Amino acid sequence: NRKLILDVDTGVDDALGIILAVKSRQFDILGITTTNGNVSLETATTNTCKILELLQVDREIPVIKGADQPLKREAFFEHRIHGNDGLGGALLNMKVTKEVTEGFAPDFIIEQVQAYPNEVTLVMTGPLTNLALAIERYPKLVNEVKEVIFMGGVVKGVGNVTPTAEYNMYVDPEAAKAVMKAGIPRLTLVGLDVTRKALLNAAHVDRILDPKLREYVQASTADYTKRYFERNGVMACALHDPLAVGVALNKQIVETNAYYVDVEANSELCDGQTVCDFQNRLQKKANVQVCVDVDSEAFLNLFIETLNA
Ligand code: BDR
Ligand code: CA
Repeated sequence: NRKLILDVDTGVDDALGIILAVKSRQFDILGITTTNGNVSLETATTNTCKILELLQVDREIPVIKGADQPLKREAFFEHRIHGNDGLGGALLNMKVTKEVTEGFAPDFIIEQVQAYPNEVTLVMTGPLTNLALAIERYPKLVNEVKEVIFMGGVVKGVGNVTPTAEYNMYVDPEAAKAVMKAGIPRLTLVGLDVTRKALLNAAHVDRILDPKLREYVQASTADYTKRYFERNGVMACALHDPLAVGVALNKQIVETNAYYVDVEANSELCDGQTVCDFQNRLQKKANVQVCVDVDSEAFLNLFIETLNA
């Protein structure tokens, strides 16, 4: 099994990404690291533990806390989308017995990559703060990690928090910029251009066989789906973060092109914008594999079938 670290700010779709990764049994999950993002670090961590309890995971998966704020900015929560609790109110009364593992996420990432050079895949589904800190502390990480796949950015479409910025980039643009510029040989961007095509609707949810899991998915995505409808006119739940896990499971579900990508971090209107140099105007070497299309049906099937496995 491939070694994986998931880095999450557990809101509604991060949780579904965790479920996909665990249920696939395709990964040796070394740990799940948490960060401030959709909700506070504490809440993201509690939610991560709740999801592992919901799944009754039979393997030990450590959960390690990371950054409790962006590198240079104030936190910016998304309670309106994910609910105050981050899981759309679905597991409010669940008691958490799973204990958080001591340590700091950036250090954990470094230790694991050092222990397994060129074997660790990192899937990032929140702001990139933990990875930026890890690289700052141990620059060689970029050549020792197997690959990094992150959900973030939008290269052609519109933003989902400002007209130009996607949420994960917007929250910590300094971290995102540092990650883009770090020289990671295998860095894949899974942005809104493709995740807005990965739409889970009520008919998909009905196909989930395990009643407990089906009810959880229904409950956690109800408000999130309404919010998506208000902005996009489609009654569905965008599987942003699960698609990043899906890409780790099977690259064939997306089409990627290599481009030079940078992130704006110094603009009144455009902070967090991912600027993708499609025409190589800047004449810089490509630094990111950008997902430009997705086989949505293949991905949704992979998602449902994995939950039913
Ligand atoms: C991203 O922002 C968060 O709200 C989601 O969890 C996802 O990671 C989508 O823009
Ligand atoms: Ca997320």
